[in-house]
Amino acid sequence: MTAIDLDARFDPRELRNALGRFATGIAVVAAHDAEGPMGVTVNSFSSVSLDPPLVLFSMARGLLSLPRFEKVEAYAVNILLEGQEAISNSFSRPGADKFAGVDWVKGVTGAPKLTPTLATFECVPYAHYDGGDHVIFVGRVVHLHVEDEGSPLLYFRGSYRLLATEKG
Ligand SMILES: Cc1cc2nc3c(=O)[nH]c(=O)nc-3n(C[C@H](O)[C@H](O)[C@H](O)COP(=O)(O)O)c2cc1C
Repeated sequence: MTAIDLDARFDPRELRNALGRFATGIAVVAAHDAEGPMGVTVNSFSSVSLDPPLVLFSMARGLLSLPRFEKVEAYAVNILLEGQEAISNSFSRPGADKFAGVDWVKGVTGAPKLTPTLATFECVPYAHYDGGDHVIFVGRVVHLHVEDEGSPLLYFRGSYRLLATEKG
């Protein structure tokens, strides 16, 4: 059997462009420690398991807040609503005072729940895995907050998008 050549025939920009063809929602992962609240916009959120209830997201190793996130006892994954582009933008600015002007409350676990959201998953850390230049966080969901109404903020090919008509 011929060994598969692992040398990439594409550069990181091409890979990023290709990955951008996968449409996602947007979440703000938020936690609280002695220094105060911290939060990061992610579109790497995904469901993992129903029993036990597990979700995941990945964080770049260069994130200023990564060492703090790796130590917290709980974090909240806040799923953004359409119209919350400004929140997504402010939570993607490295090192900024991301919570300025943002409405939030402490959830059951103490992790910041943004208000409003489409849904919020409060989690305790289940595992941290090596994900190359990212760390993969797997969280065990311990509390759910779900809105019956509302549409998600979407992300596709590097731009925010809105949900179109529902397929019947
Ligand atoms: C739509 C969108 C999705 C993002 N998804 C991720 C992600 O999944 N993982 C990640 O590490 N950074 C992601 N980022 C970038 C981070 O939000 C940004 O680097 C981070 O807030 C900087 O945090 P820091 O202040 O801890 O350095 C995303 C940014 C945007 C605008």
